[in-house]
Amino acid sequence: MHVKEQVLKILEEQKGNRISGTALARQLNVSRNAVWKAVKGLQDAGYAISAVTNKGYCLQPENDILSVQSIAKYLHPERRNLHLEVHKTIDSTNNKAKEYAARGMAEGTVVIAEEQTAGRGRMGRSFYSPPESGVYISVLLRPGCKAQEALYITTAMAVAAAQAIEEVSGYPAEIKWVNDVFCHGKKVCGILTEASVNVENEMLEYAVAGIGINVRTPKQRFPSALEQVAGSVFPEGEDVNGEARSRIAAGVLNHFWQYYEHLAEHTFMEEYRRRSFLLGKRVQTVSQPPVTGVAVEINDSGHLVIKREDGMLITLNSGEVSVRPV
Ligand code: BTN
Repeated sequence: MHVKEQVLKILEEQKGNRISGTALARQLNVSRNAVWKAVKGLQDAGYAISAVTNKGYCLQPENDILSVQSIAKYLHPERRNLHLEVHKTIDSTNNKAKEYAARGMAEGTVVIAEEQTAGRGRMGRSFYSPPESGVYISVLLRPGCKAQEALYITTAMAVAAAQAIEEVSGYPAEIKWVNDVFCHGKKVCGILTEASVNVENEMLEYAVAGIGINVRTPKQRFPSALEQVAGSVFPEGEDVNGEARSRIAAGVLNHFWQYYEHLAEHTFMEEYRRRSFLLGKRVQTVSQPPVTGVAVEINDSGHLVIKREDGMLITLNSGEVSVRPV
């Protein structure tokens, strides 16, 4: 690690507290001038670090720049072997993670961005990913399982996201089948899992689980086409803590990895059902002709079962159809 990264790590760990240049220099075994240069570089990059002569440096609590250091400090100790990288802007974190997968990089590589210029969603849609408001994460996985198990990666990620969002914000987070996370009745998080499959044995060569979370309302608001459906974890106007995005990002990774380590056991399904936004509601498929009924079950394969008015049960496959409450 360079001096700048090391200084940032300490300042993040001590966020809100002052630490002297001498103490930093001693801890890192470098000169005070090297510390000063590192702090200057961080300030130039936008970090809110106050410097008081003879007193030292302090990373201000409101500083809200995502960095490896700001996220890593909230990772559980057993997750510290994840390899995180944080980009200020990128086309798509999923693209980058897939590029790394093709280059043979290891499971546990995590690409995170402050902004995406070409964020992608399910079914060929784009995913609005403006700066400063959200967090966009892609995790490279090599699960060594059959392709159909990939569905559960997404499900585990949705549960992990809902838990992390709720823990950090205090707002209830629900899951709308298949994998959209909702707060305050609006979608605040979407997940796109992409995978490469070996056609001979139908095993996954790799999977990239990408997740985008709107933590606060974007400065430019949501585009009008999204306004009715998209929302943010923290309602507009609420003073959001400078740690919120980093804590949510780390929380997602902490929870997800716990589930992922025992993926075949599907331990997250109960929580998934508990958080389901649709179960018990009247829903309609977005398909021709539409099917209307009450969502009665999410079965162990992750399919939604709806009961039509004539009593007939219809099982919907997540890959083929989406539903909305009516
Ligand atoms: C959806 O709602 O349809 C899924 C959205 C998934 C967005 C995330 S953001 C991080 C990762 N990179 C992408 O380009 N897409 C996913």
